[in-house]
Amino acid sequence: MDTTSTQIASGTILFLLLLFFPYLSIADVIYSPVELFSINCGSSSNLSTRDGRNWTADIKFLSENKDSVAAPALTPSTLEGPYTDARLSHSQFTYSFPVSTGPKFLRLFFYSTSYQNFHRSKAYFSVKAGPYTLLQNFNASLHADAGNEPGDYLFREYCINLKDGDRLNITFIASKTSQNPDSYAFINGIEIVSMPPFLYYTNPHDVDITGLPHLVGVNTNLFPIENNFTLETKYRLRVGDQEIPASQDTGMLRSWDVDSKYVTTQSVLSLDIGPGIKLRFTKIPNYTAPDTVYRSVRNMGNNGTINMGFNLTWQLPIDSGFTYLLRLHFCQLNPEMKNPGYQSFFIFVQDQLVEKWADILSWSDKQEGVPVVKQYVVFIPGNQQETLNLSLKMHPNPQSLAKDAQINAIELFKINNSTGSLAGPNPDPDRLPETPKVPLQRPNNKSSGTTRTLAAAVAGAVSAAVLLSFIVAFFLIKRKKKMGSKEKDETPLGGGLSSLPTNLCRHFSIAEIRASTNNFDEHFVVGMGGFGNVYKGYIDDGSTRVAIKRLKPDSRQGAQEFMNEIEMLSQLRHLHLVSLVGYCYESNEMILVYDFMDRGTLREHLYDTDNPSLSWKQRLQICVGAARGLHYLHTGAKHTIIHRDVKSTNILLDEKWVAKVSDFGLSRIGPISSSMTHVSTQVKGSVGYIDPEYYKRQRLTEKSDVYSFGVVLLEVLSGRQPLLRWEEKQRISLVNWAKHCNEKGTLSEIVDAKLKGQIAPQCLQRYGEVALSCLLEDGTQRPSMNDAVRMLEFVLHLQEGAVNEVTESEDTEDVFSSSHSSLLFSDYSKSTALSMATNVGDCSYGSKDSEERSIPDHLFSEIKDPKGR
Ligand SMILES: *[C@@H]1O[C@H](CO)[C@@H](O)[C@H](O)[C@H]1NC(C)=O
Ligand SMILES: *[C@@H]1O[C@H](CO)[C@@H](O)[C@H](O)[C@H]1NC(C)=O
Ligand SMILES: *[C@@H]1O[C@H](CO)[C@@H](O)[C@H](O)[C@H]1NC(C)=O
Ligand SMILES: *[C@@H]1O[C@H](CO)[C@@H](O)[C@H](O)[C@H]1NC(C)=O
Ligand SMILES: *[C@@H]1O[C@H](CO)[C@@H](O)[C@H](O)[C@H]1NC(C)=O
Ligand SMILES: *[C@@H]1O[C@H](CO)[C@@H](O)[C@H](O)[C@H]1NC(C)=O
Ligand SMILES: *[C@@H]1O[C@H](CO)[C@@H](O)[C@H](O)[C@H]1NC(C)=O
Ligand SMILES: *[C@@H]1O[C@H](CO)[C@@H](O)[C@H](O)[C@H]1NC(C)=O
Ligand SMILES: *[C@@H]1O[C@H](CO)[C@@H](O)[C@H](O)[C@H]1NC(C)=O
Ligand SMILES: *[C@@H]1O[C@H](CO)[C@@H](O)[C@H](O)[C@H]1NC(C)=O
Ligand SMILES: *[C@@H]1O[C@H](CO)[C@@H](O)[C@H](O)[C@H]1NC(C)=O
Repeated sequence: MDTTSTQIASGTILFLLLLFFPYLSIADVIYSPVELFSINCGSSSNLSTRDGRNWTADIKFLSENKDSVAAPALTPSTLEGPYTDARLSHSQFTYSFPVSTGPKFLRLFFYSTSYQNFHRSKAYFSVKAGPYTLLQNFNASLHADAGNEPGDYLFREYCINLKDGDRLNITFIASKTSQNPDSYAFINGIEIVSMPPFLYYTNPHDVDITGLPHLVGVNTNLFPIENNFTLETKYRLRVGDQEIPASQDTGMLRSWDVDSKYVTTQSVLSLDIGPGIKLRFTKIPNYTAPDTVYRSVRNMGNNGTINMGFNLTWQLPIDSGFTYLLRLHFCQLNPEMKNPGYQSFFIFVQDQLVEKWADILSWSDKQEGVPVVKQYVVFIPGNQQETLNLSLKMHPNPQSLAKDAQINAIELFKINNSTGSLAGPNPDPDRLPETPKVPLQRPNNKSSGTTRTLAAAVAGAVSAAVLLSFIVAFFLIKRKKKMGSKEKDETPLGGGLSSLPTNLCRHFSIAEIRASTNNFDEHFVVGMGGFGNVYKGYIDDGSTRVAIKRLKPDSRQGAQEFMNEIEMLSQLRHLHLVSLVGYCYESNEMILVYDFMDRGTLREHLYDTDNPSLSWKQRLQICVGAARGLHYLHTGAKHTIIHRDVKSTNILLDEKWVAKVSDFGLSRIGPISSSMTHVSTQVKGSVGYIDPEYYKRQRLTEKSDVYSFGVVLLEVLSGRQPLLRWEEKQRISLVNWAKHCNEKGTLSEIVDAKLKGQIAPQCLQRYGEVALSCLLEDGTQRPSMNDAVRMLEFVLHLQEGAVNEVTESEDTEDVFSSSHSSLLFSDYSKSTALSMATNVGDCSYGSKDSEERSIPDHLFSEIKDPKGR
């Protein structure tokens, strides 16, 4: 069954939809909790946070408080929430909440830092709720240092169900041992939210047993979630591009993280499917998950042959020795899958077959847009001290017409063991991340001297994740105000910020920013971007010039990109990347401060400009610089970073004409393991520069940047825009025109008139080869950025050689005179440039250790391959 063309078509439609409807709708609050307590432990005042939560003082809920103390955090929290103070004690203390019958979410918020008279590393304690042990001998600092969660903030969520007339008593007990006589217990925040009775607990009167949890291994056995079980949320993952914050849940303040960290095989993500189709909640209640969860799916890809060869796999780290409840969410919105039986797949949990005919349509009574949940209970044997992976695998059933598998969301809960415990082990201190998370502080050396500013400056040493949380919260509040709805907001902790920059940058107050831009005087505007204006500013008493990018507060898309940009930039330093100086987040302003680039964008020096024309050599140097910047993005950081919006306006020039790649707003971490050869994601980028392969397949690899860079190379050569609608048909697209000319052997036609006579013939030839190889249709045949750097360096070398010694004899075969297949680098290996590069590395995706690679031999043979067209 060939579904490729229709998938490409639907991909195109999706792309168009994304262009026109970039904003997702906001979930209505479907469920209003009867009870909601948000407690700011250790604080005597009430606190309303921007996430919509009203935190109240804890004293009236303390039932046993003789020895407990309230103390402020010595390192002020940079995350908004109940973190300024904590309740701490060397002995036991209890909170008692009057709650009615029925299941509740119990959420615990911890900020692992030192408090007055309490050293961070001495926090070592157990937490019990009623008869259940939630945490036992919990070493908070060790958990924070293990870095599974953002920053030094720890968040735990439980589902607990009490018998009639109970109070919910939560007890904190310091774990005293002879080695730790002065250990203590602490808590920063507690939240209790009621939930619908049968959301996770099994309705004993449920007649439809297909929705009940089945025990893995003995599939015929049901394993109902009894009312007296307590569950700990381990994962709540939606398949998609962005996490769903608590405020956008169906009313229970759950946050839905993204699953990409846990997918270990290749896959394709489709977002915002069937926006016109209304979901019908006939199989599960409408509060089960927000609508958006069911509108994005992950599947295996569009090649059934390849799909038959692997299992779509997730690996979820868990503690052994416990039983787990796994909930899988599905919804069929793909119009291709009209009939039950068309697509069915196997599901394996812990390598045991749990479904051999998983057919979403037949589960949903043959109707599209009907969400369903399948539940499995799996026991993981072991001694409670190990961390293992729980695996979920999906594979097409060979008898199915469509050879694919798909899923929308995964929830995983740990169930209390027979002694009522949920406690897992502390992380192994010997296996902490190599570089501990240093709270890098770069104090604002311009502090005005008042303690208040000083505190602000310290607080200003904020990790970007923290800032991101604020931004999330900010946008949610913004939107909430607009909607006039009562929805609650998330705590940033639950928000699933999966990657944290380790670098921090300078914090600016809004007053400083206003002062440096004459209160955002429009005369200071030096650029306008999709998400706001860029101002020129002066800081440090006017001694330093900076570019100040002020985000428009009303663009959700912008927020995400803004967040990415801080995250990316704060981690990256390179001669050919624009440096982030700092940021400001205050008074609803989100501002980034960059080094100022005197000469503006590359485009401003190529066309539609009064600037003098750049010489060919200058242009080559700029291309080499930009290529080096991109190469660093792809290989220099911990993970491959894909820019996603390479274009001539995102290459800036400093006063010495050094090219600097800017604007990582669309960046995205690339494949992490070599088994994941691409990240699939919604298509973003700028018209004229988007890799057709990425656009069609929504498979993003660093080769998409290579393509866009190829377009820039042509812009540099021709001095015109990538698309010129008023040009004659053949010349509208610069790429097509260049390819056409190349085939005719007349590439010199496209050369900028201002460059006439400057380009040495063999240099033009080589340059054309580089540009066109970057533009090959098949991404795998394009050179890596490293190869592009080497080739451009060689071109520059040729140009310099041609200028210096006119007598240099080079192979002058006119590669542009014949067909595309003549893109030969035949004599490259003989060149002197190659002596710079020694070892022949591979050019596999995501390889990080390739700083000094040369152009691999097989690359040349691939480029020679005419199939690349
Ligand atoms: C959710 O379902 C309930 C019961 O079926 C219904 O009364 C309610 O209107 C639904 N809410 C929304 C927002 O669809
Ligand atoms: C805090 O809020 C609670 C409940 O909303 C209220 O009863 C109490 O008076 C408030 N306390 C202060 C100090 O404002
Ligand atoms: C918090 O307090 C504000 C003002 O009193 C109120 O409008 C809002 O509904 C409260 N939020 C919650 C979650 O109770
Ligand atoms: C907890 O972990 C810290 C390291 O973060 C360590 O110094 C301390 O000794 C540990 N406490 C106990 C009781 O193991
Ligand atoms: C909870 O604490 C309250 C107050 O200390 C006490 O009266 C009650 O018996 C406790 N309930 C349970 C179930 O332990
Ligand atoms: C929990 O509930 C199950 C079934 O309702 C019951 O058999 C069991 O005895 C209960 N356990 C406790 C400790 O109450
Ligand atoms: C699917 O992949 C196989 C193996 O790589 C290849 O032979 C086949 O042509 C591909 N089919 C499509 C439709 O791309
Ligand atoms: C998929 O996973 C199952 C369960 O582990 C295994 O039996 C099967 O061989 C795997 N299939 C492929 C193609 O890897
Ligand atoms: C769990 O899976 C991940 C990803 O495949 C792997 O890196 C990790 O080593 C696995 N952990 C264990 C304990 O097997
Ligand atoms: C969880 O705790 C309850 C009450 O203590 C107990 O009845 C139940 O068996 C426990 N669950 C498991 C899976 O052991
Ligand atoms: C339950 O879990 C706790 C904490 O991990 C452990 O100490 C206890 O031995 C477990 N109980 C059983 C019966 O496995």
